[in-house]
Amino acid sequence: MQEVIAINEFYDMLLKRRTIRAFRPEMIPDDIMNKIITAGKYAPSAMGQQNRHFTVIKDQTLLNDVVKATEKAGGEFVPGHTPFYSAPAVIILSAPASFKFNREDCACAIQNMMLAACSFGIGSCYICAVLPGLRDSSIMDRLKLPANYVPYGSVSFGYPAASAPEAKARRTDDVTFLP
Ligand SMILES: Cc1cc2nc3c(=O)[nH]c(=O)nc-3n(C[C@H](O)[C@H](O)[C@H](O)COP(=O)(O)O)c2cc1C
Repeated sequence: MQEVIAINEFYDMLLKRRTIRAFRPEMIPDDIMNKIITAGKYAPSAMGQQNRHFTVIKDQTLLNDVVKATEKAGGEFVPGHTPFYSAPAVIILSAPASFKFNREDCACAIQNMMLAACSFGIGSCYICAVLPGLRDSSIMDRLKLPANYVPYGSVSFGYPAASAPEAKARRTDDVTFLP
């Protein structure tokens, strides 16, 4: 019985998680950050190879340089837009460029981390708009990724400074039950 209640609480949280795009400046404690990363490590990975790497960035100068590198590579942001939403911590997910399921492994880890963050009252936003900047060679040097790894996603984390808008109504035309 206890187990069923716990599962239902998780399910409720899963439906309530929303992307957060405004963060308070205080840092997430290391023990909570480690739990979020551990949740990412326990995500499924293709052939169980755990072919993804977690890079935690708190250095706002580096994050600003990623944004500048994205703009240099042709990425356009509206004036005043802060693509990482001034989050106190960002995690970059990278994987080997040659691995067939690199994107999928990174996405699974990201989703697990976002749900774990939500369970601790921490907001998150999955950010792909900055991928061109993350893949800039001068930025890649500073990220100290394992050899031949390439970024496939990033997530901003922090305590929410504002609540998210209501979830959009879900589509009703996107499920098919085959007989
Ligand atoms: C692959 C992927 C890339 C995303 N990239 C960005 C991004 O670059 N910037 C951003 O603000 N949100 C980004 N998002 C967040 C989505 O906009 C957000 O999940 C969506 O609007 C639904 O909102 P919800 O997460 O609150 O349900 C991304 C989400 C996914 C899954």
